Amino acid sequence: VSEGHVIAAPDAAVYYGDGYWNDFGTVAAEINRRVSGRVDCNSVEYFRTRCGDRRFARALFLNCGNGWVEREFFGTGLLDSAVGVDYSEALLSEARQLAGDLPIRYERMDINEAQLPRERFDLIVNYAACHHVARPDRVFRAIRATVTDDAWFFNHDYVGPHRNQYPFPHWSRVWELNNALGNGQQSPLSYPHLPTMLVSDPSEAVHSELTLDTFQRYFTMAVQRPIGGALAYPLLTFNRALKRLPDDERESIIARVLQADREFLLDHPDSSLFSFWLGRPRVDALADEMMLDRWRREEDVREEAAAANGGRYYPPTLLQTLIYPDAFPEAAPGRDQT
Ligand SMILES: C[S@@+](CC[C@H](N)C(=O)[O-])C[C@H]1O[C@@H](n2cnc3c(N)ncnc32)[C@H](O)[C@@H]1O
Repeated sequence: VSEGHVIAAPDAAVYYGDGYWNDFGTVAAEINRRVSGRVDCNSVEYFRTRCGDRRFARALFLNCGNGWVEREFFGTGLLDSAVGVDYSEALLSEARQLAGDLPIRYERMDINEAQLPRERFDLIVNYAACHHVARPDRVFRAIRATVTDDAWFFNHDYVGPHRNQYPFPHWSRVWELNNALGNGQQSPLSYPHLPTMLVSDPSEAVHSELTLDTFQRYFTMAVQRPIGGALAYPLLTFNRALKRLPDDERESIIARVLQADREFLLDHPDSSLFSFWLGRPRVDALADEMMLDRWRREEDVREEAAAANGGRYYPPTLLQTLIYPDAFPEAAPGRDQT
C-alpha cells in the first residue's frame, strides 16, 4: 500500500507466513553454525557471549514487527528496557499484547523519516528490518547520532540483490540443482516477479544491496559472518513437496542442498543472501559535512527518480526480461521488430 510516500506491505502475513527455509530445524541449526560456529547457539545467544554479558540500558528495535526479537533478547537477560518501532499498527498492537509486563515501549513510525525516539540508545537491533529501508543513509546516520559512543549494533538481515533480482549465474545454479533433485523433491521455483513485488510488498529488499556499504559509513564492523542462502533459500523456502516426504528422505535432501549452498558460498563469497554482523559507532562518522551532504543529495535524487518511475530503481535485468517478457515489453528483445 502506498500512504503518502511510505511504502509498506498491505498484510502482516507476508512476514509471518509458513514455509521459510529456516522453519526446517536442520536449516536453523546450519544458520546458527554459520553465525556462531555452533549449531545450538543462535545469533542472539552468540551476541550475548560476544559482548561479554553486558547489560544494555536502552535498546532500539528497528521495524520490530510482532516483537518476537525483543522478547528473545529479554529472555537472555541482556536488556533493562527497549523501544520497538514499526510502521504497521496491527503488528505493533500484537507486539504490545505479547510483551505483557516487559519494559518495552512501542511507537508507530515510518523509519525512512528517521525521526527516532529521543532517548540515547546503547543497543540497536536490526533483525530482518533494514532490507525494508528505502533511505539507508538517512536512517544509519540518524541512528549514529542517537547512540552512545560505546553502543553495539546487532544485525541479522537479508543483504542480497535488490528486490531479489538474482543474477544469471546464481539463478542458473539454483535451477540446475532443483532439476537434479528427484520428482516430489523439487521446489516450484519461480523467479521473483518485479511488478507483483511492487504491488504486494514494495519495501521488500528495496535497497538490500546497499545495506552493508551504507552501514559502514557510520559504524565499523566488529564481526561479520556471511550466512549464505544463495541456493538453499530459494530451494527450501515454500517447498511444499519436501513437507510431504518421510523424515529421513526430507533430511537427506536438505543436507544435500545445504552442502551445495556451502560450496557455492565458498566459490562465490559475494553471493551471500543473508548476513550476521555486529557494528560499533564510527568515531568521526559525522565530521565530514561535505561528504554527508553528498550522500544526502545522492539518496534524494535516487528516491525522487524512483518515485517518478513507479517505484523502480534500475532498468529491467536480462533475466526479468527473458522470463517475463510481457511485463517488460519495452525491453524484450526483438519485440517491436515486425
Ligand atoms: C520482515 S519484517 C521483520 C519484523 C521483525 N524485525 C522480525 O524479525 O520479525 C519487516 C518489518 O518491517 C516493517 N516495515 C516495513 N517498512 C517500514 C517502514 N517504512 N517503517 C517502519 N517499519 C517498516 C514491517 O511492518 C515489518 O514489521
